[in-house]
Amino acid sequence: MTLNDSYWQGNYCVEISPVPNIIIIFGASGDLTARKLMPALFNLYRRKLFHDKSRIVGCARTAMKTEEFRNRLRDKMSKDVEDPAELDEFLSKVCYMHGGYQDQATYSNLQHLLEKLEKDQSPVPNRTFYLATPASLYEEIVPMLGRQGLTEECYAGEPWRHVVLEKPFGHDLKSAEMLDMLLHETLSERQIYRIDHYLGKETVQNIMMLRFANVIFEPVWNNRYIDNVQITVAEDIGIENRAGYYEKAGLLRDMFQNHMLEMLSLVAMEMPSTFEANAVRDEKLKLINSIRPFPIDQLSKYMIRGQYTASDDKKAYRDEDGVRADSTTETFVGAKVMIDNWRWHGVPFYMRSGKRLGRKVSEIAIQFKTVPYSIFQPISARDMQPDILVLTVQPDEGMSLGIQAKQPGPKLCMGNLTMDFKYNSILGNESHDAYERLLLDAMLGDQTLFIRSDVIAASWRLLTPVLEAWDGFDANNLDCPCHLRNYSAGSWGPKDADSIPKHDGFKWRKL
Ligand code: NDP
Ligand code: BG6
Repeated sequence: MTLNDSYWQGNYCVEISPVPNIIIIFGASGDLTARKLMPALFNLYRRKLFHDKSRIVGCARTAMKTEEFRNRLRDKMSKDVEDPAELDEFLSKVCYMHGGYQDQATYSNLQHLLEKLEKDQSPVPNRTFYLATPASLYEEIVPMLGRQGLTEECYAGEPWRHVVLEKPFGHDLKSAEMLDMLLHETLSERQIYRIDHYLGKETVQNIMMLRFANVIFEPVWNNRYIDNVQITVAEDIGIENRAGYYEKAGLLRDMFQNHMLEMLSLVAMEMPSTFEANAVRDEKLKLINSIRPFPIDQLSKYMIRGQYTASDDKKAYRDEDGVRADSTTETFVGAKVMIDNWRWHGVPFYMRSGKRLGRKVSEIAIQFKTVPYSIFQPISARDMQPDILVLTVQPDEGMSLGIQAKQPGPKLCMGNLTMDFKYNSILGNESHDAYERLLLDAMLGDQTLFIRSDVIAASWRLLTPVLEAWDGFDANNLDCPCHLRNYSAGSWGPKDADSIPKHDGFKWRKL
């Protein structure tokens, strides 16, 4: 399959270069800044999508001079950079200031610095505050920004003062609502950009185009033609050095509350009235609100949690640095989700995600029903393979369609034909990290790929009863249907998770 040059030159097609922005990153000494944010901003700079007058201010508690901050970034980034001089040019736009997040002096110093950077600029640059700190600090930083007047916008809303937040957005419904209230004391929803980096991935963005720019999918995109949908996000890595966060989060909070439910809503939502941020988010909200609550009294039929144990050279989760030896934090969840609306009534959505699984792969597989009757006797309709559309989110972003076809040769040999398309066949090395898309959109003021507060609340409303039920059960008690299952690192999750699709006569896809 090939993808020809774009023929649509509408507003959405042309990359718009943002006007000058000052990007202020809190937590700039951390991993996310060095590994994701700065490389993404550098790529935007290379692609002329970072205005020459834009600046980046790193801010964190670690005491260092601007030069040291630049050197650290240079060390981390230079191995992936072809032109070191270009990197140096970019780094000359970066400065650093240190200060405590609770210390009002930090914010008044920041104000002086911003005034200096903005002096004599016309128009006055927009400000994008990026909170790349542990989420527990949002409650301190945002009110401090407000108190100092740093996020104040004039009536017309320009220049912008946007605040980009990383997940987690709370750890259950109540805490998410509290965080939201607190944010809204300083900011309007229009100023808040909640990141879900999955929404910046090429294939995830393609879901809407696939569904709503083609006529061939929509007529079959429903319970009449679709048997089941499987959404998988498998990782081969463990928790790296994030035990502090992961021990409190666990997989359901880390992956389901955000990435998994966002992908589900893009696959299953109705067509938005326009391709505008709020119209898209309205449909996502409607979809998440249509998900049937998990029946807590039969939870193990709908959700299985697991934790990896040691295998070969891989440690058990409980042996990872910073993890309690009796930890009951789940590193795998397999679930069946039912959507109560006309389109999806009776169609199971099987969803699974885990750490230390066989390999890194994220995909959405739509399995169609087999034909109602076969004229190709003796092959009966039941013997035929289902058609499958697979959207591969990573590592090989692309899509494939498996259909039935005659094999060349003998008179009637049926085979499965796969039509495959890979984005890297057209993009080569030019594929862009999700953070690039999202940072650019934040600088442009486009909230379409960011999550609205009511969508977050809806997803917590769905998952909080499960988390509470798990808390109430003894995860180690094997008699309890909700106990934490073990799986070997490098396998595909706990064996018991197979029972979820098996109960309906289906299987997890082999990956
Ligand atoms: P880090 O843990 O590296 O923290 C970032 C910085 O915040 C640190 O360098 C430190 O800077 C400051 N900090 C850390 N802990 C505390 C504390 N207890 N009190 C005050 N300051 C603290 O985080 P990451 O860079 O990994 O991630 C940033 C955010 O992005 C987090 O919310 C994370 O959940 C989210 N995220 C990260 C991903 C990743 O791949 N790293 C992926 C997805 C989301 P200093 O001490 O100098 O102030
Ligand atoms: C993050 C999770 O949001 O997504 C991590 O906190 C996970 O635990 C990561 O590893 C996966 O992202 P990606 O883009 O590598 O699939």
